[in-house]
Amino acid sequence: MRVNGRIVTELGTRVDPRTSRIEVDGQRIVREAPVYILLHKPRGVVSTMKDPEGRPTVRELLADVGARVYPVGRLDFNTSGVLLATNDGDFADALLHPKMTVPKTYVVKVRGVMKPEDLDRWRRGVELDGEKTLPAKAKLLRHEGDKTWIELTITEGRNQQVRRMGEATDFPVMRLARTSFAGISSAELVPGHWRYLTADELTALKSEYGVPKRVVHPPAQEAREKTRRPPVRRSNDDRDGQPRYGGGSPGRRGLDVRADWGGGVRRGSTAGRDEPQTASPRSELSGRGWRTRTTGTGGGIGAGPGSHRVPARRR
Ligand code: URA
Repeated sequence: MRVNGRIVTELGTRVDPRTSRIEVDGQRIVREAPVYILLHKPRGVVSTMKDPEGRPTVRELLADVGARVYPVGRLDFNTSGVLLATNDGDFADALLHPKMTVPKTYVVKVRGVMKPEDLDRWRRGVELDGEKTLPAKAKLLRHEGDKTWIELTITEGRNQQVRRMGEATDFPVMRLARTSFAGISSAELVPGHWRYLTADELTALKSEYGVPKRVVHPPAQEAREKTRRPPVRRSNDDRDGQPRYGGGSPGRRGLDVRADWGGGVRRGSTAGRDEPQTASPRSELSGRGWRTRTTGTGGGIGAGPGSHRVPARRR
């Protein structure tokens, strides 16, 4: 391995791929162009690139991106919604840094009838592991029998925070979907599909959070359209034209919950059922993947050159 013509043998040597010429076995390594993706993660998929238990991963959903992108943070196996992915490690690190207090909005279905004072408790903060969660925004969407739907915006990324807030207050979370992350929303994106962030979205992120350092223009619209499905007919809009979240199983209510909830991947698995989803120290949530990065490019983390393509599901 040579850096700027000099042989490097020391493990862990750090180089700046933007300014250095890097060669391996005489072949120049070129930095991959930065790519910024929004994935609508369905339920029943782990948000890591590998799963020791063999469950479906986001790698399969991102296989046709054509660059080695990695998720920005995590969503639980049973959480659907907005998950950013990129090969720009600085972008991911900045958005995940606790100091950034990036807002994340969720639609949450809990077991139990939440009263105004219960919502206030979530807003003020719930003690988890001896430390109160930061103030949150919580809005009642509706009651449905003995269940409650709320919209919750938090600015931390504590492990399984929403589910643990539910457990700590006796309102077990039954469904959880992230509708926006740092102001980026997955509306109009079918669960399981991805799109490039637009130049406007990247500009907004840059002005709010300082990343990406350079706004890249995503590939042309025609190319992007190939990654999308035809628009899904939403039958679960309410009278005001606002999306109506939830509403029971599609079979029971005749609603297209897929559009809002990213229906489970394995039909018949618990992924698609409204069981209270206990927070558990699952391996899928530990680690951030970026920590092994040594080059600053996001290259070489886990995905080998044989990064395989998996037949796309539900296209
Ligand atoms: N909070 C949770 O409990 N789970 C998620 O996936 C995201 C936030």
